[in-house]
Amino acid sequence: MTESSLPRLDDLDVDGKRVIVRCDLNVPMKGREITDDLRIRASIPTLEALLERGARLAVCSHLGRPKGTVVDELRLAPVGTRLGELLDREVRSLGVTIGDEAQKSCDSGTPVVLLENLRFDPGEEKNDPDFAAALASLGDAYVNDAFGSSHRAHASVVGVPERLPSAAGMLLAEEVEKLERLLHDPEHPFIAVLGGAKVSDKLGVIANLLQRVDALIVGGAMAFTLLTARGLDVGRSRVEEDRVDEVRGVLEAADERGIEVLLPTDVVAAESPDEGAVHETVPLGRIGDRMGVDIGPESSALFAQKIRSARTVLWNGPMGIFEIADYAAGTEAVAVAVADATKGGSYTVVGGGDSAAALKQLGMTDSVSHLSTGGGASLELLEGRDLPGVAVLRREGSGP
Ligand code: 3PG
Ligand code: MG
Repeated sequence: MTESSLPRLDDLDVDGKRVIVRCDLNVPMKGREITDDLRIRASIPTLEALLERGARLAVCSHLGRPKGTVVDELRLAPVGTRLGELLDREVRSLGVTIGDEAQKSCDSGTPVVLLENLRFDPGEEKNDPDFAAALASLGDAYVNDAFGSSHRAHASVVGVPERLPSAAGMLLAEEVEKLERLLHDPEHPFIAVLGGAKVSDKLGVIANLLQRVDALIVGGAMAFTLLTARGLDVGRSRVEEDRVDEVRGVLEAADERGIEVLLPTDVVAAESPDEGAVHETVPLGRIGDRMGVDIGPESSALFAQKIRSARTVLWNGPMGIFEIADYAAGTEAVAVAVADATKGGSYTVVGGGDSAAALKQLGMTDSVSHLSTGGGASLELLEGRDLPGVAVLRREGSGP
């Protein structure tokens, strides 16, 4: 194994062993109902592969951000139920993460145990050594399949693999490979389509992508900060004032490199971002006392045409408030164009929870080359950063 290669399941001896599997089962929920089980489904192949190889599993994950205390609404039991349905076998959901009861369950021979929400313990996010050691004591080996959490240097992501023979699960390995393909030798034209609320979340990605893309398309609320930096009037649209100077620098860097930056030329302007608000499509500059909530049809057509001409596409973030039907047209147009590009043989990657939700809403999750289960994790990888959960596996190999 070379220093930088990721240890895989085949590198790990799991037969008859207790294996701790860190998954990202942080699924969107409405009350106790799971509204999207993409992440649970994505975890199944690795769990099945481990079971086939004779392992007993202690599956673990966080859910939400309980910040070190027990929050009943964030218990993992409903996730355990869904996991059991998908695995077609019993999953024993525990009410605890570590300690005697967890130890007994993991030692009992039960094939699949789901530990309680890792973030109920303050030691998880702090990567506390005692918590990491207690968690590690539940297994003989460790598999990280939690791509969506691998940018967090938490106990279950870095502390445990420092203490046990470890490997990457199939989802983690696939995500890293598919996303890194965008950074290493992408086919041109390579076009990045960014949207969503905040430009501040995406400045790192934009900086790294400017070295690689031929054009950058920006929609969503974040476009209004770019438009402001270009000196345009965006009415009451959401603008991150404290980022305008930085964004101006980014636009200048793009110009210097000859990278085309496409911004909306028309928008849906509404009196408020709420459903049912009075709204109309206007050319940019006529937003007046209203706010932009979606890109307009002219922008959609322009963006779609550009996307269809690409050989490689990265799409992260919706073009408007797509959860509201009246403001979903821009995001839909982008989704359709990305699907068309895929059909035409282009390599297309979609990342971020909101873009995934938009694709799901449109029944198009299978219409792209790769739909990432990672939000923050996919952005950090595309920023060119080493994800702590991946770096530790590369460093530790399947040791100790
Ligand atoms: C996600 O939803 O992006 C991951 O599960 C990570 O969650 P976090 O941002 O709360 O760490
Ligand atoms: Mg998140």
